[in-house]
Amino acid sequence: MTITLKLATSLDGRIATAAGESRWITGEASREAVHRLRAQHDAVLVGVETALADDPELTVRLPGYNGPQPARVVLDSRQRLSPDCRLVKGAREIPTYVVATIPPDRGLLAAGVRVLHVRAVGEDRPELRTVVETLAREGLSRLLVEGGGQVAASFVRCGLVDAIEWFRAPVLIGGEGRPAVGALAVAALAEAPHFRRTEVREVGDDLWERYERA
Ligand SMILES: NC(=O)c1ccc[n+]([C@@H]2O[C@H](COP(=O)([O-])OP(=O)(O)OC[C@H]3O[C@@H](n4cnc5c(N)ncnc54)[C@H](OP(=O)(O)O)[C@@H]3O)[C@@H](O)[C@H]2O)c1
Repeated sequence: MTITLKLATSLDGRIATAAGESRWITGEASREAVHRLRAQHDAVLVGVETALADDPELTVRLPGYNGPQPARVVLDSRQRLSPDCRLVKGAREIPTYVVATIPPDRGLLAAGVRVLHVRAVGEDRPELRTVVETLAREGLSRLLVEGGGQVAASFVRCGLVDAIEWFRAPVLIGGEGRPAVGALAVAALAEAPHFRRTEVREVGDDLWERYERA
């Protein structure tokens, strides 16, 4: 399994304002690059707060693209995902997984969502190593984690992030904004997870920085 974390942030590493507005921080060229990244992965994963706030499709939408769509995965311990959201409505066309820590919700199953029941840790959330193993058993071995900040932090804390694709827009949101990576419980700098930059590109007005685990 390879796991890539995608971040689309302000210069100061924020993914949304305090009120949750996030569309769009980065420009069109960055967003197109993200669609190309999705096309190179088997599955795109988000936390349920992102699914609720943005109602995303998480599909590859590129002119002339007719390749496979990545599966969509939502970490959603208690299955709070709305039956009316785009992910659920499209579940019959594109494989859509909800990873929960309670038995599957009948409504989601009836809509064609594949509910993976995974054991819980900590705040009753699915244990990420088990999540990754379960997804690998489903044939999904290249995973693109698209946030939000809490989910990004969980993957980093578990040492599961192999690469980071960071799109950074020339805008400042400030400290009240939502962080791209939530709490990591880093007590000393020596403990902080390190990454090695492999490439920097300009995409429109934004910078695209690529990192791999050091
Ligand atoms: N700029 C961007 O590209 C971008 C990208 C993504 C999101 N966003 C923005 O980010 C905001 C949402 O981010 P967020 O940090 O609040 O939430 P999030 O990371 O999207 O979702 C967090 C939720 O996921 C569930 N979860 C299940 N397993 C988890 C685990 N192992 N670790 C962490 N969470 C787990 C938890 O809910 P349960 O306990 O109920 O399971 C948790 O509350 C929105 O405003 C969205 O617009 C921006």
